[in-house]
Amino acid sequence: MRAIAVSEYGATPALMNLPRPEPGPGEILVKMIAAGLNPIDWRIADGMFKDSVDASFPLILGQDGAGVVEAVGEGVTRLRHGEQVYGTFAQEDRGLGAFAEYALARDDGPVAKIPEGMIYTHAAAVPTASAAALDIVAEARVDAGQTVLVVGATGGVGQGVVQLAAREGAKVIATARDDMAGTMRRLGADETVDHTKGDLNAQVLAVHDDGIDAVLDMVGDTTATEVLAQLLRPGGTYVSSVWSVNPDSMEAQGLRGVNLDSDPTAELLDRLSDLIDAGELRVRVEREVPLEGTPDALAANRAGGARGKTVIRV
Ligand SMILES: NC(=O)c1ccc[n+]([C@@H]2O[C@H](COP(=O)([O-])OP(=O)(O)OC[C@H]3O[C@@H](n4cnc5c(N)ncnc54)[C@H](OP(=O)(O)O)[C@@H]3O)[C@@H](O)[C@H]2O)c1
Repeated sequence: MRAIAVSEYGATPALMNLPRPEPGPGEILVKMIAAGLNPIDWRIADGMFKDSVDASFPLILGQDGAGVVEAVGEGVTRLRHGEQVYGTFAQEDRGLGAFAEYALARDDGPVAKIPEGMIYTHAAAVPTASAAALDIVAEARVDAGQTVLVVGATGGVGQGVVQLAAREGAKVIATARDDMAGTMRRLGADETVDHTKGDLNAQVLAVHDDGIDAVLDMVGDTTATEVLAQLLRPGGTYVSSVWSVNPDSMEAQGLRGVNLDSDPTAELLDRLSDLIDAGELRVRVEREVPLEGTPDALAANRAGGARGKTVIRV
């Protein structure tokens, strides 16, 4: 089968011909129709998990995908042959991932039925980013009347965070360059600040001189996080999707700091499906590429400037 894989950590992702996996007991084989690209895909290729996971090479990249159940292993009871499913498919220890014509998942794993009427290219854009967005807003305990700053709001996770925080009744300030300010407002942001036009703290304090309640950050390093945390009122919360928070240091300042470790489950996917069905969460597909265009799409995501999700047509 055709797949996008790396021969070793640090190698450039490339189109390869690799054996089609067979479903073992409790597993389903999914014929992939579309796959969703996330920053973690090129981070894994770089070797993000090299000290914690014994990966098998060639390592097929890709977390998120959507397709049709092609075969089921012994003991599978939840999902059936022919069912349309979406979810996360990466199994680094077996060299398997979503950027391939076929992928494996556990019947009790992070895979769910695609909601009625949702197309594969849309479903594939959902799992990792939208699950993280849901988890971030839950971790922050965002509440009606609070003011929250979303940093990295224009990306795949950030767009979900803006919508879900606004849905809780929070006043949302979203970072955005000029070209995305209108989109951010349409997704529910009350205000935007441009991270390329001077000091973010000064821009926020110009409107909220008594500070804000939460920073939901998809970008900042430790130094940027320490600076942005100065915007928080006593008791405020900082959630980072990039592990830039020092929870002890936050606690010493009377703040709550959380580093997100999102792990999509079938139940979480079903909740996302319900939110999407209800029109309360929109996932914006920015770009669709063929499987062979994946290496370039990964390089483009690394270079920055995402305006929504990139989806691979397998
Ligand atoms: N911990 C977890 O469980 C978890 C789960 C999912 C994702 N993540 C991580 O969360 C991060 C975001 O993921 P994503 O899928 O949303 O990425 P993405 O789609 O590539 O989007 C990144 C966005 O950040 C914006 N940005 C870059 N620098 C910025 C800055 N200094 N200030 C404000 N905005 C800035 C970019 O816009 P411009 O280029 O226009 O500035 C872009 O829109 C990634 O690092 C990902 O690995 C973690």
